[in-house]
Amino acid sequence: MVSDPRTAARLPVEVIETERVRLRPYRESDAADLVTGMADPDLHRFLPDLPDPYTARDAVEWITRGAPAAWRRGWAAYAMVDPATDRVIGGCALSNPLPHLGQIEIGYWVTASARGLGAATSAARALTGYAFAHGYGRVELLTRLENPASQRVAIAAGFHREGLRRGARPERGPGVLGGPPERGDRVVWARLVDDPSEPSPRLLPDLPGGALTDGVVTLRPPRPGDEPFLHRLHGLPDVVASSVPPVAPDGAEVALRVARSAFRWLAGERADLVVTDAASGAPAGDIGLYYSEPSTGQGMVGYSLLPEWRGRGFATRAVVLLARWAFDAGVLRLIAGTRPENAASQRVLARAGFRREGYQRERLPGPAGTRVDDVLYALLPADLPPAAPGAVAPAGPVGWHRPAGAFR
Ligand SMILES: CC(C)(COP(=O)(O)OP(=O)(O)OC[C@H]1O[C@@H](n2cnc3c(N)ncnc32)[C@H](O)[C@@H]1OP(=O)(O)O)[C@@H](O)C(=O)NCCC(=O)NCCS
Repeated sequence: MVSDPRTAARLPVEVIETERVRLRPYRESDAADLVTGMADPDLHRFLPDLPDPYTARDAVEWITRGAPAAWRRGWAAYAMVDPATDRVIGGCALSNPLPHLGQIEIGYWVTASARGLGAATSAARALTGYAFAHGYGRVELLTRLENPASQRVAIAAGFHREGLRRGARPERGPGVLGGPPERGDRVVWARLVDDPSEPSPRLLPDLPGGALTDGVVTLRPPRPGDEPFLHRLHGLPDVVASSVPPVAPDGAEVALRVARSAFRWLAGERADLVVTDAASGAPAGDIGLYYSEPSTGQGMVGYSLLPEWRGRGFATRAVVLLARWAFDAGVLRLIAGTRPENAASQRVLARAGFRREGYQRERLPGPAGTRVDDVLYALLPADLPPAAPGAVAPAGPVGWHRPAGAFR
């Protein structure tokens, strides 16, 4: 440790060379690049403290007054620059120091044209090391649930997800009916001084090549634009009857599910996928792996199809594709449940190799405060049918129940 955080109020201004970027103090000549970088709606969505629109005057104000004042308060306000040109491509900062706790917070942004090249990961890793070198023992990072790019940076820079801070901060602009701004939740990530700098482990890996297909159906993560189809799907009476709770989500709820599905996947909680017709790409249904019991290696599968896509074997194919991927990812046992009267879903499970293991009386909430029975099925890796010829992904349902708060 270089210094004791209880006395080290100010951090030293240094030039930090990293694998991909250089971190250095801002200069007046950076103003134009700052204005260019800040002209991006995503930035303002995820960094609500920035002036919007961000003008040349805002840039000069930040460079000449804001950043120097931040340094005086014990923050570190670094420009992230391209080492070849010394031009600003982003920013990386340490803020909100709690010296008595040895904790400080990290934040970053990258200009749209420089994203996806590892700039933020490289800067976050280096600035975290700098905080540790100057006496801090814990670096915290807060991301929105809807910001998977930042969550991926956190994971790559060795931060561990700790939970959700509810109402962590006021959002931008006035709240409902012009009242005070609403408070927004944030995912809390942290790296401790003793944590390795390697990427933190994930329970559910990305799909190889971004999708799974057997040539007839393709499974891909949900994306913006899927909301109307998912809203219709989850409003179908037989899909609602198989949902937990058995209530149709409204449009806002469906939008939230889509926006947060990448977070749930990165968190290792669930992998939600849209089932599409491989030939046309048309969405036909959805399927999910709910990794509710990683300690025993058991996950659960749930699925539903639009009526016009039923009766073509799509659900069975989707279950097999997902199961193969899940077993490859380390899941050891998959379970699925159906309502006793749901013959189509039971047929799907049997064709995919599942075996009926039990009958659970009043297992799930039914309509109007009732309870409904559930037939339990399970699949082990050896139960899977042989891989279909022509399957291009590592070769792996019909409406049935989903866990509470399904894919929120
Ligand atoms: C978050 C941000 C800083 C990332 O910058 P970057 O230099 O592109 O980051 P990196 O290249 O180091 O890593 C980005 C990761 O996000 C992924 N990614 C990029 N865009 C994505 C998107 N729209 N959805 C999901 N993941 C995305 C990349 O594939 C990469 O992950 P991988 O390495 O696992 O493939 C940048 O997107 C940004 O400035 N966003 C707006 C401001 C912001 O959100 N700041 C953080 C607030 S907590």
